[in-house]
Formats: sequence, C-alpha cells, structure tokens
Amino acid sequence: MPSDPTFSSPGLDAAAALFEWYAAMGVDVTLADAPLDRFEESAKAKAAAEGQAARRQLPPTEARRPMPAAEFASQGAPARPPVAAGPTAQVPTEATVMQARVAAQSAKTLDELKALIQAFDGCNLKLTAKNTVFADGNPASKLMLVGEAPGRDEDIAGLPFVGRSGQLLDRMLNAIGYSRKQNAYIANVIYWRPPGNRDPSDVEVAICRPFILRQIELIDPTLIIFLGAQPAKALLGGEAVKQGINKLRGRWCDLEIGSKRFKALPTFHPAYLLRTPIKKREAWRDFLTAKVFLENGGMLPPT
Ligand code: URA
Repeated sequence: MPSDPTFSSPGLDAAAALFEWYAAMGVDVTLADAPLDRFEESAKAKAAAEGQAARRQLPPTEARRPMPAAEFASQGAPARPPVAAGPTAQVPTEATVMQARVAAQSAKTLDELKALIQAFDGCNLKLTAKNTVFADGNPASKLMLVGEAPGRDEDIAGLPFVGRSGQLLDRMLNAIGYSRKQNAYIANVIYWRPPGNRDPSDVEVAICRPFILRQIELIDPTLIIFLGAQPAKALLGGEAVKQGINKLRGRWCDLEIGSKRFKALPTFHPAYLLRTPIKKREAWRDFLTAKVFLENGGMLPPT
C-alpha cells in the first residue's frame, strides 16, 4: 500500500503494513466487529466444565439448589461474584455457519462445492463419519430429491439413499418413469452420518444448510421433492417448522434462494413408508403430481 505523506505517521505506517500482511495472507473479510480471544474462551469453557463436574459430585438436590444469599453471607464469604456469562456454543457456531456460507458461495461448480464440503472441518459429524455423502444421480436433472442425512449404508458407500429406503425410492422413481441414473438427482441436507442415526442437531443443520442451498442453486432443478419433514423444515423455515409431515406433504411450497424461487413438494420419507405402507398411496399421488408438473414444463396443473 503506497503511503500518503499527508497521513504518514509511525502508527499509521504500522497499521498499513499490518493490513498489507493480512491481505497477502488471504485475510480479506472480518467476521465480527471486535476481536475474539479464543484462548480466553477455551479457558472459561474449561473452568465451567470443571465447575459442572464438581457440582455433579454433590447429591442431586444440593447440586441443583443455589445457596441462599443469607447462608452464603453467614459463612463469611465475600459478596457473591457476578455470574460470568458462561461460554456457549453461540459464537463459534455463528462463526462456523458464516464460514460455511462463505465457502458455499465461493463454489462456482458442483465439483468445486463437493471439494469444499469434503475439505470443510466445521461440522462435528465429519469426525465420526466414514465418508462425505455429497449426491448421486444426473446433475442435469429437472428433478432433485432432498433427504435428511446419510445412514449406515450411505456412510459406507459415500452415496445417498443406497440402503433399504433408497431401494424403495428407486422403485418409486421408476414407477413414474424416472431414475437416478437418467433424470433424477439426489442429495441430503446433512453430508455426514449422525452417529447411531440420531437426528441431526439444529447446529449441524445450520452448518450444512448453506452448502445444500448452494447445491440446489447449482443444479437449478424445476422441482425439488423433500423426502420427509426434516428437509422441508430445514430449508423452508418459517411456518413449515411448526408443521408435521402429514400437513406438509403434497402441498406446493416455494424455496427462495437469492433471487431465485424453486418449486418444492414435500412427501413422506421412504423409511417411513417402509414402516407405514398404508401411506404409500399418498406418496404415490405426490410422485404423480411431480411427474405432471415436470412434464407440463414446470407449470402447476389447473385445479
Ligand atoms: N435417509 C436419508 O434421509 N438419506 C439417506 O441418504 C439415506 C436415508
């Protein structure tokens, strides 16, 4: 940075040199208005964890009961110190979501996005998963299906929907003349198997969300089918979050990403259909609706 003699001073020169060094190192955005002392944060987290462990040693009622102020004072203790705001997952999580957003937005192609997700270390699920499960199917498809998260078989294969529910999904697609090899593209909201197939946490969903939204943008499908309530809730937000799949399924939704609006249709998850075959009739209706929509050039059929 050339220094302007009008503003030249040792302090400004040092600041200019520091910014120049940051830029050369690739630090060209700020994530917050004030610096965060991560060392202090982890020291506080350690102290809080040690405090919790010590409290767990007490009998349960003692552990939960705060000592009344009078008793506290009568023991000659100094005034109770103000309770420090304990470290929460909030700050690192927001920073991680921001990191995911910046990474996802930087992907110009699906290959780039896949490589970025594979290299991303901000989601704890990656630590226990065998593989990153990105997608399967034809990326040129007009139909995209979005599930929840990989299970055991998907984790091993590194591909979505390859287990029993995936086989049912393939049969459902074939029944309307579609297939993942030819004209359907399949992905999940979550890219790594949650241990023991537990539900992904809100934090895990928030971290993966920018990536799946970017994946949808890059595929640019005419129609998205959400498999189950979880992907619908995770991606639509708003009112959808309060509703169960029985309310959501078969109802047209709009998913807005940037300036683009995608048509989406939630239906039952194939794993649910395996457990509740009576619901297959409604899922079949949803798939037929999807077929008509796609063959009608992405227009809603007249009601
Ligand atoms: N269930 C999902 O939601 N996704 C998969 O990939 C497999 C099972």
